[in-house]
Amino acid sequence: MKRIIIGNWKMNPATIAEAKTLARKVRTVAAGLVHTETVVCPPVVFLSAVASRASVSNFHIGAQTVSEHDSGAHTGEVSASMLCDMGAEYVIAGHSEERAAGVTDELVSRRVAAIVSHGMTAVVCVGENERDEEGAYLEKLKEQIRGSFAGVPANKAKHIVIAYEPVWAIGAKEAMLPEQIYETSLFIKKVFSDIFGPEEGLKLRVLYGGSVNSRNAEEIVRIGKVDGLLVGRESVNAPGFSDLLRIVDKLS
Ligand code: PGA
Repeated sequence: MKRIIIGNWKMNPATIAEAKTLARKVRTVAAGLVHTETVVCPPVVFLSAVASRASVSNFHIGAQTVSEHDSGAHTGEVSASMLCDMGAEYVIAGHSEERAAGVTDELVSRRVAAIVSHGMTAVVCVGENERDEEGAYLEKLKEQIRGSFAGVPANKAKHIVIAYEPVWAIGAKEAMLPEQIYETSLFIKKVFSDIFGPEEGLKLRVLYGGSVNSRNAEEIVRIGKVDGLLVGRESVNAPGFSDLLRIVDKLS
């Protein structure tokens, strides 16, 4: 199965012209890759500008968040069907920056249900705020995963990928150690299979996110054995992100 590398542009870049240029550069690199699906998640206002008219294999558009509602009186919100109509194939749900601003597991699960009901892939972010020596963070992680999928029908599990993003490693100097990433991704697969069944657990793709760049991506994928990456800062740096994509694509 191909790896998925997702660029979460967050609230960048500043202009539509820059967004188009960045997307064009990434698209060109993505089209030449063999083992990698590349996804870029621009701010929603740039989504249609970034969506390629001519579809390029291995290159997809995603959104950074979505409303749990389908339509109606929800000022400022954007529905899953609108995103789908704009060409989005992936939607991030429950990024830690949203969770820190009050988005609960329950709300995340309703958003996941909305995303998958439109046939898009939900990129569900989970991760502990901090680690303790006794391993209590594992219990919290389990709770967060269970809560984030409560009410999501089992037949939709194939439309879900999990991005493991330990909060302390996001926007940090260093990523998490690849050995720890491997260990935690196995734990996440186990929790997922307890929810959706062993078959779905085996098929689940777990990505890692948190201070990934072109210098550490290779180790994270090779030793951390993750199925892809969720990249913040490095994803709006065209040369760095292009290098990262090429480096990861070469790994067998
Ligand atoms: P970062 O962000 O790569 O800048 O640490 C990752 C994320 O928040 O998804």
